Amino acid sequence: MESAKKGLTDFFRSELEALRKRIGEEDMGSSLWSCGVMEQAPVLVMVWNAGENDWDSEVHSVAAAIQNMLLKAYGLGLGSLWIADIYYAIEPLTEYLGKPWKLMAAVTLGWPAEDPEAPPRKTVEEVAEFRS
Ligand SMILES: Cc1cc2nc3c(=O)[nH]c(=O)nc-3n(C[C@H](O)[C@H](O)[C@H](O)COP(=O)(O)O)c2cc1C
Repeated sequence: MESAKKGLTDFFRSELEALRKRIGEEDMGSSLWSCGVMEQAPVLVMVWNAGENDWDSEVHSVAAAIQNMLLKAYGLGLGSLWIADIYYAIEPLTEYLGKPWKLMAAVTLGWPAEDPEAPPRKTVEEVAEFRS
């Protein structure tokens, strides 16, 4: 039996291939790469906003939930990738999955193949402005 993940990634791949024919690879950002990661990773989590209250701030809650997922995964020694590139086929994917909620992101999880060094941290002054 075909796995749910394979069904979804095959569908996403075919949508991206159709898009490539229409607009060309150079306008598709990292979407083809991201699809490859989704195909390769053993676990794929699709993240929804169930929109229970219809508040604009619900996207903050969903983003925080994703970040918590990534931190937990890291704590367990897993690798992860937050994938917004599903937006390159958001309408077909939403229809394919058939849920009444707003599709927000995908998250891949798996044992990391490498342990890259963290890039240098920016200073607080580089990322924040303080006023008195
Ligand atoms: C909201 C969000 C969406 C992302 N979407 C993608 C994606 O679709 N494909 C991908 O390869 N990486 C994606 N990433 C990962 C980033 O490209 C980057 O690898 C990651 O944020 C780590 O780099 P940083 O520490 O500079 O943020 C996303 C990250 C964030 C925060």
